[in-house]
Amino acid sequence: MSENIDSILHEDRQFPPSDTFVKQAEIKAADLQALYDFAEKDYEGFWEQQARDYLDWHVPFKSVLDSSNAPHFKWFKDGEINVSYNCIDRHLTLHADKTAIIFEGENGDVMEITYDVLHKAVCQFANALKANGIRKGDRVVIYMPMTAEAVVAMQACARIGAVHSVVFGGFSAESLKDRIEDAGAKMLITADGGFRGGKIVELKAAADKALASGCPTIEKVVVLMRTNHGVKMKTGRDAWWHEMIVGCDIVCEPEWVESEHPLFLLYTSGSTGKPKGIQHSSGGYLLGAATTMNWVFDIREDDVYWCTADVGWITGHSYVTYGPLAAGGTMLIYEGAPTVPDGGRFWKLIQDHKVTTFYTAPTAIRALMKLGDDIPNKYDLSSLRLLGTVGEPINPEAWMWYHKVIGQEKCPIVDTWWQTETGANMIAPVPGVVATKPGSCTRALPGIDADVVDKAGNPITQANAGGFLVIKKPWPSMLRTIWGDDKRYVDTYWGEFNNRYYVAGDSVRKDADGYFWIMGRIDDVLNVSGHRLGTMEVESALVAHERVAEAAVVGRPDEIKGEAIFAYVVLRGARPKGGVDETLTKELRAWVSEQIGPIAKPDDIRYADNLPKTRSGKIMRRLLRSIAKGEAITSDTSTLENESILEQLQGKA
Ligand code: PRX
Repeated sequence: MSENIDSILHEDRQFPPSDTFVKQAEIKAADLQALYDFAEKDYEGFWEQQARDYLDWHVPFKSVLDSSNAPHFKWFKDGEINVSYNCIDRHLTLHADKTAIIFEGENGDVMEITYDVLHKAVCQFANALKANGIRKGDRVVIYMPMTAEAVVAMQACARIGAVHSVVFGGFSAESLKDRIEDAGAKMLITADGGFRGGKIVELKAAADKALASGCPTIEKVVVLMRTNHGVKMKTGRDAWWHEMIVGCDIVCEPEWVESEHPLFLLYTSGSTGKPKGIQHSSGGYLLGAATTMNWVFDIREDDVYWCTADVGWITGHSYVTYGPLAAGGTMLIYEGAPTVPDGGRFWKLIQDHKVTTFYTAPTAIRALMKLGDDIPNKYDLSSLRLLGTVGEPINPEAWMWYHKVIGQEKCPIVDTWWQTETGANMIAPVPGVVATKPGSCTRALPGIDADVVDKAGNPITQANAGGFLVIKKPWPSMLRTIWGDDKRYVDTYWGEFNNRYYVAGDSVRKDADGYFWIMGRIDDVLNVSGHRLGTMEVESALVAHERVAEAAVVGRPDEIKGEAIFAYVVLRGARPKGGVDETLTKELRAWVSEQIGPIAKPDDIRYADNLPKTRSGKIMRRLLRSIAKGEAITSDTSTLENESILEQLQGKA
């Protein structure tokens, strides 16, 4: 931990919002103070008030927080609500003709959808789902390109109380299969393909492969025609989206569900075992998304808001599908890669659609920064008023570039810390009030009791001393459990401090101003391009290859991706001569890509006769991490059976 602290301690620049920004900001200093005071004085009363202000309830709740079965907390449990109604219907009276979604495909096609049209599309698709036997509580897996229809599919599930589980389109058939099976999904919604990076992503082919190898619960596959490149359809099982909706009514009464009814599952990596199906609720989850659209994104009537995240990640749930619509906003959805046809695509999109609010990941910022200032300087970015980042700590250099070149020194940057599990932003600046510091996510939001504690669970009060990031009180948008595994939920998030606190799994320090600085994960989870990957998953994929006997995977810092994947592999049979076998390395990388998806592909693979282990047989990961970084070995290696493997691990023999 200490080396991390030292490397970022030097950052003491502060950037208060400009007077212009402050003047038009939704939340001013006094408002924010009032929110903090309210939450401090009456925590439940505070959330009760927000739930009444931000959401429309079909049956109002009386109970605010039920802790009787902690840590399985319940929020607003006797209230009834529908998430899709809150995202669409309630805006129809005043805003039926307002643009809800501007969609631009990678190939340049543009489509604008008003709230009225979105309503009809969602209702019609919801009726089609019902006609195909989908009912409240059924699981529907969505494996789609980043299109407006992906949002329609999610909203349609929400409308009828079906539980969606979106699987990122970049995941392989194998990963898709695991998730479908864990969720026990009845239906799969996919597309023939998607356009990304100048190529067609073969979604239907991957879906077919997944279904051919298992997934007995799937009864129906719905296929959106996006690329129209001629895919095979299986009679009786597969149906084209556009054919399935024919004759379905454009009115669909929302299914009113209890507030705790699961809205979705979203799989995320842990340090051990298979991915966890993070289960979110309806009312509490939506409240987190809705409040933060206001507090953090300062969303206004005339904004054109753009979050670049794919719907396959939590950011694409809370800040594409749900938050912006709950706030009645106008948002941009872009299908493709930031570099098609060139590295100016994002900036052109901002110019063409007059984007005011831009929310992306540090990895994208770093990649685009590398291409030079000339590219963004060619575009008119003057419509921007607010910038945001999420997914990993942003390095001050990238922050300054974002601030100067993209924000032209007038846009606050909201660095938002949160997780799949938290549902919504937790630690982030309220942009019209809080001065930002490059690399810090600043302060916990109102109603979020975040702190830094030591190993014994005691708060660390000394400035800049690192510890565990914990949340001390339950909050409405928190995960409810891990699908089908309550015990794993309790053990993973509450076990560390005996059910007292939610443990995020990140290490953090607070500076003298009380600002949070995230230092990284405390477990064996990699953060590649802002997405979590379990080292375990990559290791299992490697050992599933017939030539691999054992594998250990660690992260090493990477300029663009945050972390790159470094794999140490022990083969069945002899180690390649001099540790080099380029053909096999290529094959293993492609293998992992097929098993999990391209983001999991190891950047480096090193072959050794053995892995370094402690006497108890545990892999010495810290040692492997320093080797991956190219550092000198300082840890005690005297227990190693075969010291000569050190040279092999270091690539010297
Ligand atoms: O380590 C933290 C990092 O991403 C993890 C959560 O990953 P995931 O569930 O995939 O969600 C990513 C998008 C919300 C956290 O435990 N992380 C996320 N945001 C930040 C961050 N680290 C530093 N600063 C952030 N703003």
